[in-house]
Amino acid sequence: MADKRRFELFADLLVTRFPHATRIFDVAGGMGRLNEALTQRGRVVTTFDRRHKHLPVTFAEREFTLDEPAQCELVVGLHADGATRVIIEYAARHRLPFAVVPCCSDNSMPYKPWMKHLTALAVSLGLSTDEVALPMEGRARVLVGTVPPAGP
Ligand SMILES: C[S@@+](CC[C@H](N)C(=O)[O-])C[C@H]1O[C@@H](n2cnc3c(N)ncnc32)[C@H](O)[C@@H]1O
Repeated sequence: MADKRRFELFADLLVTRFPHATRIFDVAGGMGRLNEALTQRGRVVTTFDRRHKHLPVTFAEREFTLDEPAQCELVVGLHADGATRVIIEYAARHRLPFAVVPCCSDNSMPYKPWMKHLTALAVSLGLSTDEVALPMEGRARVLVGTVPPAGP
């Protein structure tokens, strides 16, 4: 059972870590609870998910793909399952920072190798990464990706 505090904890981390990111894409956001928590913190959030039932938040009821126009300053995913890899590829394509809290892999990979794989993917696509942990039970590690400054 995933920790119910995850939405508030991740929202707090995101606004602290990315104070200037006003518009946020919340990918595979389920019911939209992270959207709600971020909206309460003054952010403008669009949640993408295939599910029909959701909270009254800005919600794009569809699959998130690399072709989505990049109308955000940050792309995030909390326990986003198969969309986690897409988030990282999307961030790299559009030169955006990302933050993901990985849970299940999209290829049956166990958790630790999956975390390593996602980190390697981000680095291979030209992003810098670091990791923090949310103070909660379960899958709590956050992989953060940032865009390195352009060279001279
Ligand atoms: C484990 S749930 C997590 C939902 C929510 N973030 C949470 O923490 O409760 C994973 C969600 O990912 C969604 N999902 C997976 N791949 C997706 C994609 N490419 N685009 C949009 N939603 C996706 C599923 O519909 C499902 O709601």
